[in-house]
Amino acid sequence: MANLFKRTHMCGTLTLANVQEEIVLNGWIQKRRNLGGLIFCDLRDKTGIVQIVFNDDIPKELFEKADKLRSEFVVGIKGTVKERESKNKDLSTGDIEVFASDLMIYSESETPPIYVKDDDKVSEDLRLKYRYLDLRKLKMQRNLSFRHKVTKIARDFFDEDGFTEVETPILINSTPEGARDYIVPSRVNQGKFYALPQSPQLFKQLLMVSGTDRYFQIAKCFRDEDLRADRQPEFTQIDLEMSFVDANDVISTQERFMKKLFKELMNLEINTPFPRLTYEEAMTRFGSDKPDTRFGFELKYLNETVKDCDFQVFKNALSSGGDVRGININGYSDRFSRKDLDKLQDAAKAYGAKGVAWIRVGESEHTSSIGKFFTPEQMNAMIQIFEGKPNDLILIVADKPSVVFDSLGFLRREIAGRLGLLNDKEYNFLWVVDFPMYEYNEELGRYQAMHHPFTAPKAEDIPLMDTDPSKVKAEAYDIIMNGVELGGGSIRIHDRTLQAKIFEILGLSEEEANSKFGFLLEAFKYGVPPHGGLAYGLDRLVMLLTGSQSIREVMAFPKNQAAQCMLSDAPSVIEQSQLDELAIQIVAEQE
Ligand code: AMO
Repeated sequence: MANLFKRTHMCGTLTLANVQEEIVLNGWIQKRRNLGGLIFCDLRDKTGIVQIVFNDDIPKELFEKADKLRSEFVVGIKGTVKERESKNKDLSTGDIEVFASDLMIYSESETPPIYVKDDDKVSEDLRLKYRYLDLRKLKMQRNLSFRHKVTKIARDFFDEDGFTEVETPILINSTPEGARDYIVPSRVNQGKFYALPQSPQLFKQLLMVSGTDRYFQIAKCFRDEDLRADRQPEFTQIDLEMSFVDANDVISTQERFMKKLFKELMNLEINTPFPRLTYEEAMTRFGSDKPDTRFGFELKYLNETVKDCDFQVFKNALSSGGDVRGININGYSDRFSRKDLDKLQDAAKAYGAKGVAWIRVGESEHTSSIGKFFTPEQMNAMIQIFEGKPNDLILIVADKPSVVFDSLGFLRREIAGRLGLLNDKEYNFLWVVDFPMYEYNEELGRYQAMHHPFTAPKAEDIPLMDTDPSKVKAEAYDIIMNGVELGGGSIRIHDRTLQAKIFEILGLSEEEANSKFGFLLEAFKYGVPPHGGLAYGLDRLVMLLTGSQSIREVMAFPKNQAAQCMLSDAPSVIEQSQLDELAIQIVAEQE
């Protein structure tokens, strides 16, 4: 074809082995420099960048055409690969350059609003507005390709293990995963609404009733919740469900999957089985149900040690059923100024802590924000709990248990980050198991399912359901890596009577349960296998494996923190005629 130079090689793949070859490249101009008789261009495609040289040997018109090249022009180049005299160690193709013999300009570019450069410091909203330019960055292309490989390995693994990939519907009724639903109005059923799935949970359970035996899906999920670095309104799960299994079967399948993933993606051998921590142990040692175990600073319990002290804050916490706990930032006291401690205290307030007491351990004298309330013996007793040594910094929080755990859990990780202790090449996996079935929601004045209402209680705890629901543990498990919840799942209830009882404890009337999940209960009348499963957050997994700071870095077209698509401007106002068809009237004032 006359208007296309057929590509023979990709830019980033050229090496000394290609020297003397006549090749054809296609790509974008990264930059152009005219040094008088010589023009140098960097040519980029998704595989990398290579240097192109236009010199005096080529016809004048061609040289003039090359001089017109600007950043982001799209071109085809014919030329010969030569060894470079001065090699560029920063470039994978730095040993060679391509002497151009012909050039075709496919399209020109205006000056781009953002530089196509990996470490360009430009606002994220601008990057998202011009995402197609942002995605030209090699790092972003690498992330997309890495993500593709993860899904490919997942498909291969689950396929080989006897799973069937099944697509479940997107226009459904509400699924209970704890967030708000995205709602879609129905035109043909005016006044009625679909919800977008928060996960394929109910459908994958129905597939088990259908005899599919082992299901998986790379599934889009939608949750209307407050956004953070590791949350998006629209995200992807590697979702799976298995029949005739117990928790150990699901867990060991996942460990084999992770082993294959790490081996094939990064040629890393990871050790299995992963350690298992009970929820209680995770909370008491790390203040979190997704503990990062790459560093220490474990929580210590001080209630016994301080029970006779005169310090009002501790006394009040204890008398109202709260806890006094702390962490020892051992060996790093000199890394924190008084101002740093004030800042950490302010940050911990976001987790409900009213304050953070500190002790700097010295050789014989200690300094402390609460020193005047304690005798030297009492102070030493506290320090001993932490096995305190000179230059240790002890941080203590007294409050109701949830606040103590949340704020110390936060401080532990925040401080490890500041101290540079979070090595993103270290992969610490663990399972958190034995979650409580229910958590009490003070606002609603009733229990809520901690995972979801289809999770089975541990068989030995079933008698407690009537007497003390708060003590019932669930057959649920979360897979955690480096302090991030990669996935979660459970063994499900397959007994209608038990399911009805759980709905009752959750405060769902029979009517409500029937209107929301009647179809599942109905299906359970006709023979349901014991089953269980799990879902990974694919975006989170890829974020961690690529060492990215946010899941937006590993999604092609993510939403910003306000759940907007900066590129296409969604969500947007729709035509009055569309509203009329749907019989929808907007009552709130639009901004
Ligand atoms: P869960 O709600 O724990 O379980 O979700 C599973 C995993 O999905 C990821 N995830 C998210 N990722 C990005 N943005 C979000 N807003 C978001 N929310 C969740 C997390 C999480 O671990 N149906 C059950 C699974 C099961 O029981 O089999 C479920 O969805 O990595």
